[in-house]
Amino acid sequence: MNKAVRKAVIAGNWKMNKTRPEAKELIEAIKPLVADAGCEVICCVPFTNLETALEATKGSNVKVGAENCHFEKSGAFTGEISADMLAEMGVEYVVLGHSERRQYFGETDETVNKRLKAALGAGLKPILCVGEMLADRENGITAELVAMQTKIALKGVSADEMKNIIIAYEPVWAIGTGKTATAEQANEVCALIRATLASLYGEAVAEATTIQYGGSMNAKNAEELLAQPDVDGGLIGGASLKAPDFATIVKAATNG
Ligand code: PGA
Repeated sequence: MNKAVRKAVIAGNWKMNKTRPEAKELIEAIKPLVADAGCEVICCVPFTNLETALEATKGSNVKVGAENCHFEKSGAFTGEISADMLAEMGVEYVVLGHSERRQYFGETDETVNKRLKAALGAGLKPILCVGEMLADRENGITAELVAMQTKIALKGVSADEMKNIIIAYEPVWAIGTGKTATAEQANEVCALIRATLASLYGEAVAEATTIQYGGSMNAKNAEELLAQPDVDGGLIGGASLKAPDFATIVKAATNG
């Protein structure tokens, strides 16, 4: 296990928050606080804020991501945004398969796989989210479920394409609830995802893939979570909306 071979990545997931002026204000507040980060820093923002975020982050070390994309290239899909549309704007990352998309918008492992392939095809770097519900954990099927989600999402994805993919382990019961997985629980499932990658692509690819933890990670608990050997970063919801808290998490990743 060699954490040093992997890129630590802290990504904010703003969800459905911030108007354009508010987005600009938050990015401007984040930039100086993370300018010397020793990890990659990404802000994933609502579609309406992408242009503002791209403009505000120009010349800085803060990268911009979207929160979803559709799997078709174009066509009659009212309300959807294609991977090509994002790539053309200069967006680099895209969150895919977030549990809120799966729970509230009917996304399945199959559609996540299609979105992932569309994103890779457009040159975007997906942040692929996987994670169990509380009932899955209580039923003792976390390992099977997360391995299955990972395998289906990555169906047809080559070892070479894995260089552009980040995986985020987000236990659904810990998202927005204030209930963080313990550092041991987070590490255990991140290690399991890595073992799944090894079975699909071999050890070298598994060792090189960044696997984040997400779910109520905050300025207080980030250091312990990020110090775990298989936790290579974080996908941050609530705490990414507060510049000082987000910067503290970035610092913890730099040290971790
Ligand atoms: P949270 O959200 O940090 O607010 O729990 C994490 C996420 O949903 O990515």
